[in-house]
Amino acid sequence: MKDSFLVTGGARLTGSVRVSGAKNSVLKLMSAAMLAEGTTTLTNCPEIADVPYMAEVLRGLGCRVELDGSVVRIHVPAQVESNADFDAVRQFRASVAVLGPLTARCLRAQVALPGGDAIGNRPLDMHQSGLEKLGATTRIEHGCVVAEAERLRGADIKLDFPSVGATENILTAAVLAEGVTVLDNAAREPEIVDLCHMLNQMGAQIEGAGSNTITVTGVDRLHPTEHEVVGDRIVAGTWAYAAAMTQGDITVGGIDPQHLHLVLEKLKLAGAHVETYPSGFRVVQSGYPTAVDYQTLPFPGFPTDLQPMAIALCVVSEGMSVITENIFESRFRFVDEMMRLGADASIDGHHVVIRGRRELSSAPVWSSDIRAGVGLVLAGLVADGTTEVHDVYHIDRGYPGFVETMRQLGADIERKVGDEGR
Ligand code: UD1
Repeated sequence: MKDSFLVTGGARLTGSVRVSGAKNSVLKLMSAAMLAEGTTTLTNCPEIADVPYMAEVLRGLGCRVELDGSVVRIHVPAQVESNADFDAVRQFRASVAVLGPLTARCLRAQVALPGGDAIGNRPLDMHQSGLEKLGATTRIEHGCVVAEAERLRGADIKLDFPSVGATENILTAAVLAEGVTVLDNAAREPEIVDLCHMLNQMGAQIEGAGSNTITVTGVDRLHPTEHEVVGDRIVAGTWAYAAAMTQGDITVGGIDPQHLHLVLEKLKLAGAHVETYPSGFRVVQSGYPTAVDYQTLPFPGFPTDLQPMAIALCVVSEGMSVITENIFESRFRFVDEMMRLGADASIDGHHVVIRGRRELSSAPVWSSDIRAGVGLVLAGLVADGTTEVHDVYHIDRGYPGFVETMRQLGADIERKVGDEGR
């Protein structure tokens, strides 16, 4: 038995929270630290399970990693190991982020391929073709992706799709390549901008981060740095949805509201009152939310990682919504769990049609990934009775102090420790 959350519906969530650094940034920054010998310090790191996992991956490559609350120090030796073919890597998808830095520093990288993923197929073809354009050969061998190069040379690379992970691996290889790389159709997510800021602080020459064309002029070496991780827009967005769901009033700090521009616009359409500040926002919802349509897209579009929270809101909104998932093909799997709570939803390919209703009724439900789990907790907040959300180890991977923050906002939620945690 794994831990679960017991969520009793009915509370209106109110108060203030401050988000820490983004999971999807810190893991890539930790990996990019390997590009320079010496000690790189990251501050504002979230205290989530994925950070020690990534520390384990880096230790396996020869780094010393100290975790000190929200500060992570990575001591990188003169020579890092090129072979990341061990269990910690195989079980942890974000470890693919070591591919670019290892190829740049060792001219060889062997990284175990992560297993299947609940949200859909996650191939690495764009990561591989990008590294090949920079002069590496790549292959899949014995369950690993292997990249090898005599040297890396700058190139013109156009991605078929603005993949976040491929953009990161290409950038972290190109920074130490000879000459200029122009990456077209690059991902524009704030976490990419954060990575480029840190790389530039380390001595890289990157221009255009945040636009769809990024230009990298290779340098001979990088030096270590200290960097503050960008705020987690997905956690911040989650609290925004929690306010709208429970007809609450939540102020969120530690986040640039521009990183959630479209999300906050959608909440206004649902009837919320939204105020923005230089590094935060407030969402107040009075009365039942109105149904809104969504389609997930790469940034600045609506983030796929907030799609389960948007579905939770649509489930209890007045009217009908159509949600279209364009990034991950299996991301509607958790909708069946929402239906156990009484959601009126029908899935048709990558669309789900939801007829909003005022009442949900509690039931046992299972989370299949981090975001789906949180979507189910949000639904539990407005269901009649106590909902047990199982397999919350997924939520622990991405949300620091989730239960404590929820309780501080007034939610009736507690952790039920499973046999594994005893
Ligand atoms: C990252 C985030 C994840 C977020 C996603 C999209 C991390 C640790 N994870 O995942 O939370 O939901 O961005 O914002 O930062 N694809 C290919 N070939 C490739 C690479 C990707 O076909 O070589 C496809 C994927 O299968 C998917 C789409 O491109 O359908 C987007 O994937 P990508 O942007 O790469 O997401 P991740 O970096 O894996």
